[in-house]
Amino acid sequence: MGEIDLKSLSRIGKTPLIPLGLNAGPQGRVFAKLEWYNPFGSLKDRAAYWMIRAAEKDGRLKKGQTILIEPSSGNTGIALVGISNRLGYSVEIVIPEKASGETKTLIESLGGKLMETEDDLCPRVGKGTDQSIALAQAIVRRRPEKYVMLNQYENEANFRAHYESTGPEIWEQTGGRVKHFVTGIGTGGTITGVAQFLKEKDPGVRIYGVQPQPGHRIQGLRNLTESAMPKLLERRRDLVDEWIEVRDKNAFAAVKLLAKEESLFVGPSSGAVMHATLGVASKNTGDVVAMFADDGTPRRSLYAELGVFSPEELEALPRKAKHLPGLALPLEVLSQARL
Ligand SMILES: Cc1ncc(COP(=O)(O)O)c(C=O)c1O
Repeated sequence: MGEIDLKSLSRIGKTPLIPLGLNAGPQGRVFAKLEWYNPFGSLKDRAAYWMIRAAEKDGRLKKGQTILIEPSSGNTGIALVGISNRLGYSVEIVIPEKASGETKTLIESLGGKLMETEDDLCPRVGKGTDQSIALAQAIVRRRPEKYVMLNQYENEANFRAHYESTGPEIWEQTGGRVKHFVTGIGTGGTITGVAQFLKEKDPGVRIYGVQPQPGHRIQGLRNLTESAMPKLLERRRDLVDEWIEVRDKNAFAAVKLLAKEESLFVGPSSGAVMHATLGVASKNTGDVVAMFADDGTPRRSLYAELGVFSPEELEALPRKAKHLPGLALPLEVLSQARL
């Protein structure tokens, strides 16, 4: 393992928290936590790193033998592959067919193997990521000596990643003044880990969980009426004070607004979080922190397909961005990070 590899892992977390100029409401500031500054481009670097390290401590992983298998619609897959590569483990990602082409290319270029699940493969289990969870579990059951599934939907290390890193960072970066925290929900690791930490510091902090509409196009997030509630979230669901459902059209409008007003090129879930955040800020006092999970680079094809940005706007965006993602630059740049 070279010096560069270790360096990229030591850059996990410690992401910037920036004030937004967008109308924040009468009293209080609005901040965005820019998670695409993580080395593999999203908040999932934290969960992946914590889960791998915990499994190493438990003796579940054997270098050169173990294959990590994980269901993921994108960011967890990218993070696991990038980190495992550096630590000497192979990774297979079970990914829904509907995941973006950019994400699939990136996982493969980082050295991961993809198993795509077709929509009708496990019809009893539900839709989207639920199918990939079932497939990954079935594979582990058949080959337990070979495969390890860290299972981000149940793994306490996913919660701990945010309890031990994201929560303390937000507390410190706001000088203990955060009063509202708004985030999307995939496994529930982010919301429960951050909520637990912030509420221990100040029981008055309010926590908002953002859900997309049923049948949404926002990768990484789940609507709990159409997808099962992950165990990780179920264990601590009481930490969520309010659920906010955001329509896709409002999420994408906020993506556009952030590009125009803040020179931030965000992923769709950050648009949903931003829309919810504006509502929270307009009705409350005190500092609001919005979690921006990833940037828009891997969603260019989705934005083009949906007409969120014109081809000319898309072309111009990365050059305009004030807060360019660290390694999450063009795919060609990221794939050179491969060992
Ligand atoms: C793209 C994306 N993935 C995942 C999450 C949440 O992750 P989790 O609930 O699994 O910690 C978010 C939260 O905003 C997100 O935007």
